Amino acid sequence: MSRRILVTSALPNANGPIHLGHMLEHVQTDIWVRFQRMRGHEVIYVCADDTHGTATMIRAEEEGVDAETLIEKMRLDHLQDFNGFNISYDNYYSTHSDENRYFSELIYNRLKDKDLIFTRSVEQLYDPEKNLFLADRFVVGECPKCGEPGEYGDNCEKCAATYDATELKNPRSVYSGAKPELRASDHYFFDLPQYTDFLKKWTRSGAVQPEVANKLSEWLDAGLKAWDISRDAPYFGFVIPGTTDKYFYVWMDAPIGYMASFKNYCDSSNEVVFDDFWSPDSTCEVHHFIGKDIINFHALFWPAVLDGSGFRPPTRVHTHGFITVNGTKMSKSRGTFINAADYLKFLDPEYLRYYYATKLNGSSDDLDINLEDFVQRVNSDLVGKVINIASRCAGFINKQFDGVLSDRLHDEDLWQQFINAEQTIADFYETDDTSKAVREITRLADLANQYIAQHEPWKLNKDPERREDLQLICSQAINMFRSLAIYLKPIMPEMAKKSEAFLNVAELQWFDLSTPLLGHTIGAFKSMLTRMEMKTVDQLVAASAQASSADAETDSAAPSAEVQDDKHITIDDFTKVQLKVARVIAAAPVDGADKLLQLTLDVGDHQRQVFSGIKAAYNAEDLVGRLTVVVANLAPRKMRFGVSEGMVLAAGPGGEDIFLLSPDSGARPGMDVS
Ligand code: 2FM
Ligand code: ZN
Repeated sequence: MSRRILVTSALPNANGPIHLGHMLEHVQTDIWVRFQRMRGHEVIYVCADDTHGTATMIRAEEEGVDAETLIEKMRLDHLQDFNGFNISYDNYYSTHSDENRYFSELIYNRLKDKDLIFTRSVEQLYDPEKNLFLADRFVVGECPKCGEPGEYGDNCEKCAATYDATELKNPRSVYSGAKPELRASDHYFFDLPQYTDFLKKWTRSGAVQPEVANKLSEWLDAGLKAWDISRDAPYFGFVIPGTTDKYFYVWMDAPIGYMASFKNYCDSSNEVVFDDFWSPDSTCEVHHFIGKDIINFHALFWPAVLDGSGFRPPTRVHTHGFITVNGTKMSKSRGTFINAADYLKFLDPEYLRYYYATKLNGSSDDLDINLEDFVQRVNSDLVGKVINIASRCAGFINKQFDGVLSDRLHDEDLWQQFINAEQTIADFYETDDTSKAVREITRLADLANQYIAQHEPWKLNKDPERREDLQLICSQAINMFRSLAIYLKPIMPEMAKKSEAFLNVAELQWFDLSTPLLGHTIGAFKSMLTRMEMKTVDQLVAASAQASSADAETDSAAPSAEVQDDKHITIDDFTKVQLKVARVIAAAPVDGADKLLQLTLDVGDHQRQVFSGIKAAYNAEDLVGRLTVVVANLAPRKMRFGVSEGMVLAAGPGGEDIFLLSPDSGARPGMDVS
């Protein structure tokens, strides 16, 4: 039976670029969407930029443009990145739209009519210079528990204490540096606790994964609180009806943005009826794909708001975990915080789509991207196994048989194994377990390669009496390749397109699996994917590291709460480093060490010994008398050759190009360097 399915990925924030973390979710969604479409279901996949909030307003102000201009530019940039990865939205819209205003107001008015909205006075920190209320993450100060400076918001990264942002000592506004004041204002609340029983049932209805349901149960059992859905002016967003200075909190109108994007699609396509999907008795499906950090918004607030305003709740919320790269959090300085646009400059998007598919398993566990494994999996599975099947056999069919495949199969049993895997692979796709789908597909690819190895078409090609066998075997192999291309098509749409051209067939559908290509003329073989080089990955990582350090120099003061930046030391760290001028009074090579020189340094009031890796750049004797800067308070380090009491600083990329201070710089031993 054909299903009617509306699918969404979480709406990316309009104030930052798309990176590989976003891409995991959009690739995951796109695979599911393409799979459903291939099976003949009606799928509408929508997304949008999430545009509202203080951050957008501030950024626009800093850039000297109006918020509308900023968000439209971002939306187009985001769309370009997603197009680059072949994400097949039917509509990519904006939450700052007429449709979204309409639905936000409608939903709010309906909730209000049902007495699900009330107001209450809330005390919040206020920036008296910028004249705005400060969300927690825009307040910085000392942790009230351990005194750690530079802590944002309501929890301490050092001692893990949680507190109210108002308890931070010496708080400052991140925007202006001003000391925030406590001010009261009326906020609008959605009466979420009234939905406790509804949510207890809904979260156990199969709408979320079991581990997500468990997490939600913890929150539900602990007792729900009313949800604050308003923010005070100035704010970039929609004014709450009946007020002049209260805005919908960005998280109120963001999920409504799913509906708005869909409505915009319905109106422009004129084929789909909005109410078919959103009325309370709808038989259509609504699927949201999200990361585990926003479960509460999608599996508590959103279903309750929908029900309260006369709409149906989602069919399923598919939750994925976060990605780590080489075992650690994505890091700007290590170059593993990779923007989608940078990735596309270096690598084929299909590589990453495939690698993500090998990792996604339908759970909300985190997944690790290991860059060496990435290269290895693409080369060995795709190039080495799948494409290899076609490349080894296509030439014989094209050259010896004018491209015509045999009119029967050579090994029916083997073919049957390819068909039999269909339900299993389909179930894995349906449940987002693409890692198992890929495993099953590569198992089939192994069978096909064993078949070719066993029948050795290259030998048959030399034997004029075995021409028919040659055609049969190569035809069987090409049919097996075709099955694999179908199975992989949701993951690798470009490879599928190239395979369709090679096979000389219309767009492959899931049901094509059951019928082999017999007596059919194929096209010329062109490789569908080239091998991946580790070197290119290294270049991408280096470029990302460089781009992030350039960003750091030009970036505004606005904090990026999500990104861990391990590149910078704080000013407090820096003031701990004592730098002093030193004169080299003796220098000698070190027995058994290729790169080291043993230096005796005059640091003004005493001498000390330092081992330094600058032998390639200087002859020991030339260094005597030269000045350098040393880190004077580096803890002494015991090395194989003796104790090193400090570190010599020099300029240059290394090797032979290292430069100490010039002897005539005017500096004197013992001088502080500042
Ligand atoms: O977490 C985020 O990046 C949000 N912009 C996601 C919004 S999803 C939906 F609710 F709009
Ligand atoms: Zn602390």
